[in-house]
Formats: sequence, structure tokens, C-alpha cells
Amino acid sequence: MELDKCIKTRRSIRKYIDKEVHWDLVAKIIDAGRLAPSAGNLQNWKFIAVLDKGKKQKITEACLQQTWMNKAPVHILVVAEPKKAERYYGTRGERLYSIQNCAAAVENMLLMAHNLDLGACWVGAFDENMLGRAVGLPDEARPQAVITIGYPAEKIKEPAKFPIENVAYFNSWRGKIKDVAGYMGYHSVKVQKGLQKGKKALKKGTEKAAEKAKDVAKKIKKRIEEKQKKSNNKKKFKEVHNAK
Ligand SMILES: Cc1cc2nc3c(=O)[nH]c(=O)nc-3n(C[C@H](O)[C@H](O)[C@H](O)COP(=O)(O)O)c2cc1C
Repeated sequence: MELDKCIKTRRSIRKYIDKEVHWDLVAKIIDAGRLAPSAGNLQNWKFIAVLDKGKKQKITEACLQQTWMNKAPVHILVVAEPKKAERYYGTRGERLYSIQNCAAAVENMLLMAHNLDLGACWVGAFDENMLGRAVGLPDEARPQAVITIGYPAEKIKEPAKFPIENVAYFNSWRGKIKDVAGYMGYHSVKVQKGLQKGKKALKKGTEKAAEKAKDVAKKIKKRIEEKQKKSNNKKKFKEVHNAK
């Protein structure tokens, strides 16, 4: 799938059909996480794939009873090792980079899941200690996210996202240019609708014009044929007349 399409069509999927996900695909998803950027390339993360029903039940309970999670054939826990980052970057490494590294990995994994026609959801609401106990994490490993994975049993419409002109500034905080959306090749919903309407009208117009042209061509052809018939008749008449 094209990256652009993958980013635009990814959705959080929370309903799954009862179908196993082949281990190869789970491995591909974890591999995408492994390849994410990380501060100083520390890669202070671990990925725990859970397929066991009892363990998934415990994870679901730790995730504040989000019972839909149970139906996902696979849970992947993304776990940070903050102490490793602290050694290099102090508090910033421990508190910020560890979280950011894992977040980058999660997004890579969500996109890869979607690319493989799987549905996935990022779950961040959980009791850290309960979740840690569910998979036997040591104290130095902190859970950052659970990713649920399975074949989608729902189609989700694009959720409301702020238009680009609401979230993008130029050069400075609140720095605007007049038509930021137009500048970046985007248009507001209103303008988009207007453009679509215009395009449709144009298409309709050209289709009508093409039909008219066809009609005129037919009429001209008919007239030529009629004229030819008439002159042929005249010729024949003369030939017959002269022969007499
Ligand atoms: C940090 C984070 C935590 C999230 N936690 C949960 C969660 O606990 N449960 C859940 O159902 N969805 C969770 N989500 C998914 C969001 O609800 C979802 O991304 C958002 O509604 C936008 O929908 P989209 O992913 O389809 O674009 C989380 C997403 C992020 C980034």
C-alpha cells in the first residue's frame, strides 16, 4: 500500500473477526516497531506478543476492563526501559525520550498492521502495575502501550480531524499566511465542496456538449446522404431519359 494511502486510511479498529493472525504477520508488525527512530538510537524498548487467552484476559482487566480487547487474537505490549535512557540523557531520557521512542514504535506498528490488511488499536488507558504483573515485567520495565491486532470486523468512517489550517503555523506560534491550506495544496471543506461542485458541473457541461456535437454530426451526415441520394436519382433520370 502507498504510504500516503496507508496513513490516510488507517483507523483504530476495536472489532475483530474470529480468525487467527499468522505469526509471520505478527513478526512483521514487531519488526516495523523495531525499526522506528529512537533518541541516540538507544532502542530501549521491548515488544511482548501475547496470544494466550488467559493472559489477554488479564491484560484486558488491566486496561480498565475494555472488554472489546478480549476478541483481538493478538495483543502486543510495548514496554520501555527508562533506566537505559536515563544513563545517557538523565531525567529527559527517562521521562521523555523513553515515552517518545515507544510512541514512534507504536505508530510504525499500527501502520504496518493496516498495510497488512489487519485492524489495530493503540490502548493507553491501563493500570501500569496490573499490566506489568499480567506479563511478569520487572520494575525497570514500564508498559507504554498495548496494541490489539486482528482482522477487522468493522469499517470506520474517517474520524473528525482538525483541518490543516487549524493546526499548522508558519515560522512562529500563530504565524499564519493568508491561505495556508491553498499554499500546502489543501483546501477547507467549503472550498473542497465548491471545487467538487465546479468539477461536476464542468463534466456535465462537457458531456452535454459532446452529446450535442454527436447530434449535429448525425444530422449533417443525414443531410449529405439525402443530397447524394437526390443527385444520384437525377443522374439516373438523365441517363434513362437520354437513352430514350
Ligand atoms: C496515547 C493513546 C492512547 C489511546 N488509548 C486508547 C484506549 O485506551 N482505548 C481505545 O479504545 N483507544 C485508545 N486510543 C485510540 C484513540 O481513541 C484513537 O486513535 C482516536 O480516537 C483517533 O482515531 P483513529 O486512530 O481511528 O484516527 C489511544 C490512542 C493514543 C494515541
